[in-house]
Order: sequence, then C-alpha cells, then structure tokens
Amino acid sequence: MKKQFFPKGRQTDQKLVDEITTLLGSNAHPRDLLIENLHRVQDHYGQLHKDAIAALAQVMHLSQAQVFEVASFYAHFHIDNPAPVHKSCSGISCALFGIGDGHGVPCVGQCHNAPVNFSLKDAIEIPEYIAFEDYAYMPLPDPHVVMEKLEASGLRGLGGAGFPVAQKWRFMLNAADNRVLVVNADEGEPGTFKDRHCLETNPHKVLEGMLIAAHTIKAKDIYIYLRDEYAHVRHILETEIPKLNSPIPIHLRRGAGAYICGEETALLESLEGKRGLPRIKPPYPAQEGLFGRPTLINNVETLWRVQEILADGPAAASKRFYSVSGRIKNPGVFEAPTDITAAALIEMAGGMLDGHQFKAYLPGGASGGILPAHKADLPLSFGVLEEYGCFIGSAAVIVLSDQDNMKDVVANLMDFFDHESCGQCTPCRVGCHKLTHLLQEDHPDTDLMSELSYVMRDSSICGLGQAAPNPLLSALTHFAEDF
Ligand SMILES: Cc1cc2nc3c(=O)[nH]c(=O)nc-3n(C[C@H](O)[C@H](O)[C@H](O)COP(=O)(O)O)c2cc1C
Ligand code: SF4
Repeated sequence: MKKQFFPKGRQTDQKLVDEITTLLGSNAHPRDLLIENLHRVQDHYGQLHKDAIAALAQVMHLSQAQVFEVASFYAHFHIDNPAPVHKSCSGISCALFGIGDGHGVPCVGQCHNAPVNFSLKDAIEIPEYIAFEDYAYMPLPDPHVVMEKLEASGLRGLGGAGFPVAQKWRFMLNAADNRVLVVNADEGEPGTFKDRHCLETNPHKVLEGMLIAAHTIKAKDIYIYLRDEYAHVRHILETEIPKLNSPIPIHLRRGAGAYICGEETALLESLEGKRGLPRIKPPYPAQEGLFGRPTLINNVETLWRVQEILADGPAAASKRFYSVSGRIKNPGVFEAPTDITAAALIEMAGGMLDGHQFKAYLPGGASGGILPAHKADLPLSFGVLEEYGCFIGSAAVIVLSDQDNMKDVVANLMDFFDHESCGQCTPCRVGCHKLTHLLQEDHPDTDLMSELSYVMRDSSICGLGQAAPNPLLSALTHFAEDF
C-alpha cells in the first residue's frame, strides 16, 4: 500500500499542492532538487509565498523548516515579496562609476559594461557562439596520456586557489568508485567575468575539457553549477549539452545568488539542495564530496585549458584569461601570459581613462588585496603577490585612479563580504559586520580594524572570512592617508 505523507506544522492548501505537483512533474524528488524546484515555483508565481513553501515541502516530502531555511539563505529567492524588477550592480567595478537607483545587487559579472543597470523584464540575449555543429571534438585521449600531459604542463587551477591540476586528479585515481566531477561555474568574485566569456563564446571547449576530465577520473556523474545571473549561458548549455549524447549523465544546476557557493564545499552543499555552508576539511572532496562520493571540482577556465593542453600542447598552461575593469578605456577579458604585469594589461586595455591617473589595482578581485601603482611591474604569476599580502586568485584586475578614495573602495568590498558571509563562524560573521560599520566612520580606529582583520584571517573556517580583510590591510599599508 502506498505510504501517505502527513505534513507537520502549517497546513497546506490542496489547490497549491496539486498545482506544484503538476509543475514539478517527475522532478519532485530527490531532495537535492530543492533549489531547482524553488526556482520553478518562484518563476511560476513570481515570488515564494509561504503557502507555496508549505505546499512544496509536502510535495517534496520535506519539512517546512528544511524548505524555508534553504529559500531564505539564497538572495535570489523572494519570500512573500515579489522579486525587484529593476536592479543595479553594486560591485566595485560598477560602483566606481556610481550605483544606479535599481535594487542593489552584488557584482553580476558584466564589469566590462559598468555601470550595469538592468530589468528582469529585459529579454535574454543569446550571443553568437560556436555550436556543436561547428565544433570538432577529438577522440577521448587515453587517461595515462592525459595525466602525463597535464603533469608536464604544470597547469594550476584557475578558479582562485591555484592548486596543481594533475595532483588533484591523481587523488581521484586512488579514490573509491562512484566518482563525481563538478564544474564550478559560479563565478561570483567581484570583477571576474572570464568564465562567462569561455561559456558564451566557445562552450564546447569547456564541455570537451569536462568530458576529458570525467573520462580520465572515471566519473559516473557530472554536475555543472552555474551562477543564476548567467541566464543566457544556461540557455546555451541547455541547448548544447543534449547534443553531446554523453554516456555519463550531465546535470546542469542553477545557483541562486550566493557568492559563498563558489567555495567548493559550500557548492557541494548547495548541489545537495541545502544552504551553502562550507564544510570543515578534512575530509576533502576527493575523499567525501557530493553525496559522500569522491568528487573532483574544477573551474570552467581550468577545463578550457585542459582541452587546449591536449589539443595544442603544454604551452596552453602558460596563458590565462584576465578580467580587466575599472578606470581603463577598454575593459574586457584579455588572454595573456601567466606572468604578465598589471602595467601591460592596462596597456592592452587601451590605457587609463582620460583625466584619470593610475593609483592602484586589485589583482585578484575583492579577495586578492590591493597594490599601489608603483607595484604594477610585478609578474601576476601564482605565488608572487603573497609577499605583498595579495594573491592573483581568479585574475580579476580592477584598476583604480587618483579619483578613487581607498577607504570608499574598501568599504564597498567589506559590505560585499558582510552581505555574502554565510554566518556559520563568528570571526567572519561578526568581523565583516563590525568592519563594515567601522569603515563608515569619518576617522575609524585603524588599530582596532587591523586587530580584527588578523583574528578573521587566522580563525575563520573558509577562504571568505580569511581573505575578506585583505583589501583593508593593503589599503592601510599603502594608502593610510585615505583613512
Ligand atoms: C569564497 C570563495 C568563493 C569562490 N568562488 C569560486 C568561483 O566562483 N568559481 C571557482 O571556480 N572557484 C571559486 N572558488 C575556489 C573554489 O573553492 C575551488 O578552489 C575551485 O573551484 C577549484 O577549481 P580549480 O582547481 O580548477 O581552480 C572560491 C573560493 C572561495 C573561498
Ligand atoms: S568564513 Fe565566513 S563564509 Fe566561511 S564558513 Fe565562516 S562565516 Fe561562512
């Protein structure tokens, strides 16, 4: 006999339960589809009414608390409130040019069009891209050959941490069966828009790199976690992925506006349909990842370079994409050697805007610290900038000028971290909040801010809280006069 499900707490509206059952069809289960289903319900009704949350809980056989805690964690879900139609990006690359009067949202990954204002009613524009019919896949190479070539190239991860790719793949070869590959397409670091460039120009290059990775580590499933802001990329992937006829199931999942879900373990939680709270490591994803299965997580551009290394040789590992924005004439994505300097990138981007004098730059988005103009000749290679309290991370180079006050810049970045902290650990949750408030004072206590920064750096659980103070500490070192 079929087991009947009786919900606890708020009773449900049967009409809504029926509507949502029809809306979800065969996607009502399993639980990891919760975020996908919240999107479906919100897209259908324009918001998430509490009654719809109750009905969804019943349909998915979850408690209402489980559904509510997830819905309320993600910025793109609007509970008992319609989604704001007009939005203005408040990311630092846009804020330099003045934030519009739409609902303020964190960096939307369109820094080359700063300042960005948009409406949810705008039609989704699909750019011209290389489709499956125009792309030539190579035969899948032998896994041993792949590992040899990757090792020889010295390729490092391009999502932020720069971990050697071959080494990470080797962990997987020794892991238990039932392995998973996850493609990190969350791209939330303010100032970063290079993964978007990869996916909207040549998606099959990323997909080929992905298939090579999956074949090499013998993955049984592939998950792509795509940031919700990239609706046009979702459309491209939904069109192109079925053409692959991949023997390994490819699951495309939609983020919901949480920067922290770019952090690999928060991303795994989100893929499981939960709040994006980073996990304590160990165990590492290669040991216990998605659904407890050994998991390899790689960034979009990393997989793009994997494809290039296999197709064109190891030299592909010595170039990468830089997202360049700020006070320059031609912001955009530039492909350049991994040891290029900020000075050379500014030249590639057409030089400084008229009337602006180069003052400083952020080498690695919001997290990577700030360097003064006289350090623009440092190679932007992995491991070089750490000596100066900075890192290259996702290579989001944001150029600042004499018209930018560093306290204002840091206040914008800290506000972002305060908004995006998952709140799980006290140093980050309270530290980001306290620093945001201190930065609003005319003459903040800089000793207190430094002390707080070092506590956050040393005792936060994940990279968000550890790196959040970087721009502040840099600015206090190089631009004390702006405070
Ligand atoms: C707060 C935070 C946000 C992150 N966001 C992203 C992201 O949006 N995309 C990404 O690829 N990596 C991001 N990372 C890095 C990932 O945790 C992980 O290192 C990366 O996806 C691994 O892929 P890779 O080795 O190919 O670089 C983030 C890390 C932290 C701490
Ligand atoms: S450091 Fe911040 S984002 Fe990371 S787990 Fe702690 S509270 Fe969450």
